[in-house]
Amino acid sequence: MSVLLQTSKCIFRKPFNNTFCKYVFLRKNSDVPKKFITFDEVVAQRRAEAMRSVVVQVNSDSSFNELYGYCSKYASIKDIHHYKNTGGEHFMVIEFASEDNLKDVLKSCSSHNKDHDVISVQSPFLWFRAAVGNKEKFADTGKKLAVKNGTEICNEDVLLEDILNCETVSDQIQLLYERTTLNDLSIRLRYIVARQLEMIFNSLYTNVKIQPFGSSVNGFGRMGCDLDLVLINSITEEMGAASRRLVFQEKRSARQLELAGALLELRVAGVARLTRILNARVPIVKYAHEYAGLHCDLCYNNSAAVHMSELLWQLGELCARSRALAVLVRRWAAATGLTQPHPGRWLTNFPLTLMVLFFLQRTGLLPSLNRLVSEAGKEDIRIAEENVNCTFLRDLNKLPADSYEQNDDDLQTLLFKFFEFYSQFDFQEKAISINEGKPIRKPNSLPLYIVNPLEQSLNVSRNVSYEECERLRLEVRNAAWHLESCLDGKKSDDWGILGLIEKKSSRGLKKLLRVGNSHRLVSMKDLFTDNDNEPSVEGIRSKMQKFVKTDKEVDTSVKEMKSEMSKEQKSGKIKFKNNQTASAVYRIRRDKII
Ligand code: GTP
Ligand code: MG
Repeated sequence: MSVLLQTSKCIFRKPFNNTFCKYVFLRKNSDVPKKFITFDEVVAQRRAEAMRSVVVQVNSDSSFNELYGYCSKYASIKDIHHYKNTGGEHFMVIEFASEDNLKDVLKSCSSHNKDHDVISVQSPFLWFRAAVGNKEKFADTGKKLAVKNGTEICNEDVLLEDILNCETVSDQIQLLYERTTLNDLSIRLRYIVARQLEMIFNSLYTNVKIQPFGSSVNGFGRMGCDLDLVLINSITEEMGAASRRLVFQEKRSARQLELAGALLELRVAGVARLTRILNARVPIVKYAHEYAGLHCDLCYNNSAAVHMSELLWQLGELCARSRALAVLVRRWAAATGLTQPHPGRWLTNFPLTLMVLFFLQRTGLLPSLNRLVSEAGKEDIRIAEENVNCTFLRDLNKLPADSYEQNDDDLQTLLFKFFEFYSQFDFQEKAISINEGKPIRKPNSLPLYIVNPLEQSLNVSRNVSYEECERLRLEVRNAAWHLESCLDGKKSDDWGILGLIEKKSSRGLKKLLRVGNSHRLVSMKDLFTDNDNEPSVEGIRSKMQKFVKTDKEVDTSVKEMKSEMSKEQKSGKIKFKNNQTASAVYRIRRDKII
């Protein structure tokens, strides 16, 4: 399965269950498998998949047989995937064999007509009503769920323990990547959320598209990342042709996103806690999607952002090592506090990813963007809104093989070189430009300058303060030093990437909890009972006594743990279950879900 993505030089194994793997076997016009497929082909497949899928809320995963039996009466089913949202509610993603199948199923759906505040709307988000009267018997077809709990984020303690037990630092990086990268079901779900909006908007507009972008589609996303969406007003050449003399009278408005916000708030099932940030450089509407368990940001007419995701995705395809490396670097930056969950005077994941790609260009693993532009043909021309030129080579099969993956370094070596490279980088005088693939002179005195690849007069790290840039310089040096000190072969508690990805504040505590030589981690959960809403210091102390030595160690650890917990609460992880929102009340009033 991994072969097609490897050159003879590449030592990075692409995991079997990788999200994009199945697309690699696409064939086009001939029987010769292509080494690379285009981003547009991946997006087209995902959109088509969403157009024949629904998400059905059920009572539990054991509703599978009944749901399968009921839906098979209307259409042929390809697969059913199960997941739970943050509130612990169960859902099944059903992919039917064709879009027509889905239309038949939607025709068979009913509306909930007991509440006068509800006006029914077609959507791929459904729920499965309990049977009335005698329960229909469905024969066991032998079919099984394609996946159970498919969007579950891996347990952090288990992950850290497994990382600790890896043979090499490269294995650690690879393991972190495989366990945390966005999986197939999470991507399906994101395209279905986009499809839900598209269905609503298409009942009002002539030709709009809702397109996911950012880390949900650029190949650098981790499980649980936010969903960036853009509402694109796609006018085809045909629609605007001068030969069509009858033209619609249309309403001009610079407030399209306001209406989108109102529609989301009033018409889209699952949308909660919506906020509008309309005076930003890129105005957005933020909301939580309760059924999908996602944080979403919707913007308007920003197709350059989609092309940016396309560019990042392409570079990730050219050098698969870049994805594992970027995942690690993003985790490290979050652990050191260089990136934060909210925007401010610090780095964010996007410029950080550009820094990784730039470093890989310097090591001969990736071509410069200018190279991709020089190889582009007529079919690659893309001009986004406000005339942003997004033209670069799309079909990577046309790229000469000597323009990428020109070194054999394993992930450990690359990671060390990454930190070393930025330890020595002249941030004061130089800017990072993936267009050039080499440092260029800074056009102004902002502390950190990372050229926006598609609008080169802009700096994507213009918000980063002098202090934060200094901290970056310090942290890359610390990280390089830490990795170098691991080279002696002795495996301590923060061996390899553990010393980079564990939050500093919890590192002391986690060390204490690793028991003896077995390196077994004691789960945080083991320290609490299910009823411990507000665990007492004494409670934690008595449970920890068997793992730690002195009272002082216990006190320090308890303090660290409480501070971590309060930070998590403040960071606003979605807790749908505890929110007494109107939609929750509405759901409780509905008939029983099976
Ligand atoms: P995470 O959401 O943190 O996982 O990463 P992300 O890559 O999705 O970043 P984010 O949600 O912050 O932004 C979404 C996308 O918007 C990015 O992938 C970029 O394509 C684009 N983007 C983000 N920041 C900037 C910026 O400063 N300038 C430009 N032009 N585009 C940006
Ligand atoms: Mg994002």
